Amino acid sequence: MINSQMTTREIISWLKETDETSLESLWRAADEVRQANVGDQVHLRGLIEISSYCVRSCRYCGLNAASPADRYRMTADEIQDAARAAHDYGYGSVVLQGGEDYGLKSQWIADRIRAIKAETSLAVTLSLGERSNEDFALWRDAGADRYLLRFETSNRPLYDNIHPPLAGKYSDRQDILLHLRQLGYEIGSGVMIGIPGQTWDILANDLETFARLDLDMIGMGPYIAHPGTPLGKGENLIEVPADQQVPNDELTTYKAIALTRLLCPASNIPSTTALATLNLAEGRELGLSRGANVVMPNMTPVQYRAMYEIYPAKACLNETAKECHHCMNNRIRSIGRIPGEGRGDSPNYTNNHNS
Ligand code: 5AD
Ligand code: FES
Repeated sequence: MINSQMTTREIISWLKETDETSLESLWRAADEVRQANVGDQVHLRGLIEISSYCVRSCRYCGLNAASPADRYRMTADEIQDAARAAHDYGYGSVVLQGGEDYGLKSQWIADRIRAIKAETSLAVTLSLGERSNEDFALWRDAGADRYLLRFETSNRPLYDNIHPPLAGKYSDRQDILLHLRQLGYEIGSGVMIGIPGQTWDILANDLETFARLDLDMIGMGPYIAHPGTPLGKGENLIEVPADQQVPNDELTTYKAIALTRLLCPASNIPSTTALATLNLAEGRELGLSRGANVVMPNMTPVQYRAMYEIYPAKACLNETAKECHHCMNNRIRSIGRIPGEGRGDSPNYTNNHNS
């Protein structure tokens, strides 16, 4: 079976599939479901990495609090300039992303959202970590439309091992996502493919969890080891047998994207920068041809890029927003697709809110 009714066993067997002819049928099925549900437009989301400060200690992430990385925060003017450029390029939305940085004061973020909304018609997406319910409500009132928070893995022991909580805090990202939905946000989540300790069973359950949460946006990219992090140094707390460990490679990422499209037909799914990092020449295009319908060109001022090193050798590290704008448009057209018009709201969200 190759549709939204796949069983867990079938999902696992697709994830492990190596036969090229069978994989061709998976890519084709995902591409057809993509076209039927979200069409040929590829929505562009301008990614603005507003702060590289982070209080958390996620064991895979180059921005974790213990990392010696240099830190920055963008100024209000820099953020507004980047949003204006995104609007001028015809993008439908901007994503304000940062580490979990309480130096980004709640009211200051609300002011940034209001300023962008006052000057442009952009949808505003936030990706600022596990902030308080008060912050989420304040930002929604200021006009924020969407929130991205990857749950990273649906397996609690693995989650706890790679995400030490803040003192006195327990985090349940799936709960946070449901709360964000209640506040009226479009909600996005996702996982990394091939994080140490991720087994085939866990990844299959991650994909089923996307469907159960009925996500509007789902982001997936390969795990890329960062040598300055505990996981990158090989300090894995959870060891799994080699034949159970999901590889962090390109092919497995395409399979996860294609299966996610089949399980969540109307969700917005980006072809991610992490995927492009593994295959600069055509990773983005292959993601778009195997289920994805969104790309997130980087709009962070170039002088900050090297300081937002979640993982090393990120694609587009030195390309300006303008260069990425042209490059992305060419890439989209090269595979017969069309740069999206308008905000690119999730049909999933629209369906749920009209019924
Ligand atoms: N490799 C790939 N992706 C990573 N992320 C964080 N660290 C890494 C890494 N080493 C992803 C996480 C996070 C998103 C912003 O980047 O999934 O949610
Ligand atoms: Fe950035 Fe191609 S998308 S250079």
